[in-house]
Amino acid sequence: MPLVSSKELLEYAQQAHFAVGAFNADSMEMLQAVVEVAEEERAPVIVQVSEPTIRYAGLALPAGMVKIAAAEVDVPVVLHLDHGTSLEQNAHALRAGFTSLMIDGSRLPYDDNVAVTRQVVQMAHAAGIPVEAELGKVLGQGVSPNEVRAAMTDPEQAAEFVRAAGCDSLAIAVGSIHAMTGREAELDVDRVQAIARCVRLPLVLHGSSGVKHESVIAAIAYGVCKVNVATYLRQGFMDVLRAEMAACPDEVDFRKLFAPAREAAKERVREKIRLFGASGRIDGHGGFRSPPTLRRSPH
Ligand code: G3H
Ligand code: ZN
Repeated sequence: MPLVSSKELLEYAQQAHFAVGAFNADSMEMLQAVVEVAEEERAPVIVQVSEPTIRYAGLALPAGMVKIAAAEVDVPVVLHLDHGTSLEQNAHALRAGFTSLMIDGSRLPYDDNVAVTRQVVQMAHAAGIPVEAELGKVLGQGVSPNEVRAAMTDPEQAAEFVRAAGCDSLAIAVGSIHAMTGREAELDVDRVQAIARCVRLPLVLHGSSGVKHESVIAAIAYGVCKVNVATYLRQGFMDVLRAEMAACPDEVDFRKLFAPAREAAKERVREKIRLFGASGRIDGHGGFRSPPTLRRSPH
């Protein structure tokens, strides 16, 4: 199928109370893992390209690969810019055919975050493309529990932010930390619920690799519709790659080593898609299954 926008997809997920897996595709192998499993699971999927990946591989090549991979399957695939940090980066992604953008102004003072998000929204909406913004800060590894708590999203400020900025979905800070290699983080689920009461938009969970599964499930029940996963897939890929290299130290055909690593990443994508309740949501024609199979009120 051609790439789809995240707008209708996240609205459908919100209505049906599941979350779309948003997986970072840092290489061709990771992209294949994500898209192949999405098709096998009949799940919609968001393929994310981040600024570090753009620095590594450029913009046109990853964008082109995602378009081709999407065209080969009959489930909806979104091409999303992950953690775009400027209007310029978002403009480049828009021109390259991304069907979903993110402006992460969470490190900026509140008013500056509103201002840059508004600018990106105006540009993207003129082209019919939705925008994810972030309020509160999802921090990185090495931070203290107090820092994580202090960076959490305030529900009332979130309501004011989405009104002022006009974004289509909101990444929230509720206890997750980017790039954790263990799964020990617990989310402040009451806060997710409070934000969902104030903000009627699809909510996004970043840094999910380190979050306990029970917490992820609870967050989805309260309004998280997009869950970002990167580290957990990389770990699965690299564990197998390291083992293969140790087992075959003289191998020069890297494809022989990458193939089993890609299989390991696939199984992790599958685990997450099932956890998020996204399996089986797409019918044999590539459309949303209707009516949604899960209908639970978050309130
Ligand atoms: O934006 C990407 C994510 O938030 C991924 O976080 O590497 O902790 O899974 P993670
Ligand atoms: Zn993130």
